[in-house]
Amino acid sequence: MSDRIILLNPGPTNVSKAVIDAAAGPLFCHREPEYFTLQDEVRERLVRVMDLDPAVWTAVLIAGSGTSAMESMILAGVPAGKTLLVSDNGVYGDRIVKIATAHGIPVEAVTQPWTEATDPALLAGRCEGRDDFGALCVIHHETTTGLLNPVAECGAVAKKYGLNFLVDSVSGLAGDPLDLEAANVDIVAGTGGKNFQGMPALSFCYARREKLEEARAWSPRSVYLDFVNLYDKQEKRGTPFTPAVPFVVSLRQALIELEEETVAGRIARYCEAARFLREGYESIGLPLWLPAGTPLSNCLTTIRLPEGKTYTGLHDYLKERGFVIYAGQGRIEAEAFRIANMGNVAREDYQRLLDTLREWVEA
Ligand SMILES: Cc1ncc(COP(=O)(O)O)c(C=O)c1O
Repeated sequence: MSDRIILLNPGPTNVSKAVIDAAAGPLFCHREPEYFTLQDEVRERLVRVMDLDPAVWTAVLIAGSGTSAMESMILAGVPAGKTLLVSDNGVYGDRIVKIATAHGIPVEAVTQPWTEATDPALLAGRCEGRDDFGALCVIHHETTTGLLNPVAECGAVAKKYGLNFLVDSVSGLAGDPLDLEAANVDIVAGTGGKNFQGMPALSFCYARREKLEEARAWSPRSVYLDFVNLYDKQEKRGTPFTPAVPFVVSLRQALIELEEETVAGRIARYCEAARFLREGYESIGLPLWLPAGTPLSNCLTTIRLPEGKTYTGLHDYLKERGFVIYAGQGRIEAEAFRIANMGNVAREDYQRLLDTLREWVEA
């Protein structure tokens, strides 16, 4: 097996050596001023790198994987006694429904096939004549398939019907464009271990401060994931629980690198990589699984498995040669597989991937 592994799964991604080294120590106590200075800096950098106004927006750190950020967002974002409307066209839309249900929050989904982008007209239709909805949630990049949902158009629906607008952009932020102001977003869930090119399992949400003030009325709905408590403590150079100290240090380094590259620069790099790879897949005889014309993310592609070939065979062939890919998710596992192009990967490595895939197809 190759001693250098290129991660083509949608997080953890390939990160710089400096990001890995930053996590390696030295450890320090999270109740000392040096930790709070670091925490302040990381939160400020998160807001700055997305070009947000710090008087309006805050970033709150959450020690957990992307799902912890999703859950924290839902608990803070759905007003008491109101119903959450979810656009569901993949596994992560399903997960939002599960989160709301687990917490006893009334939830309704507008379910669409996995091959179709969220249709804002369907959401608007569901809202017509209803006064029980309090929030709308959509998934920016549905990592189930690599489909990109029209967040800004959904935000217009949320605005029209007076709903809080919640976005899961765990695999989208810094990889696909999202203007939080223009899209009318109120809270968005993100994570360090995907397009931010930091370590996994340290997550964050961006929120409008005024929405967290409103959320005081129905908080806490959880102890660990209480967004308002995390916000209050972090604002006052505190933390309610033990944070993931090494990964906060490491996220600082990842943010320095993102600031250097710029979010627009990273999005352009991913976009170009996706274009290069998709042309390559098609030319090898590996068609994309989503129908032509479907809006695609810059970050991940679902590819149809050729007749007579198995995912396990492909996975092992590639892993032997230094690449880790991802299975098709859920019900499409037998017919498709996924390749992400997130993280620090050189063009030569993508070319080598295409060459290796061609060998496998022709074998
Ligand atoms: C869109 C989206 N939301 C949420 C998650 C959950 O993240 P995690 O597995 O880090 O909990 C993922 C993970 O891939 C994702 O792609």
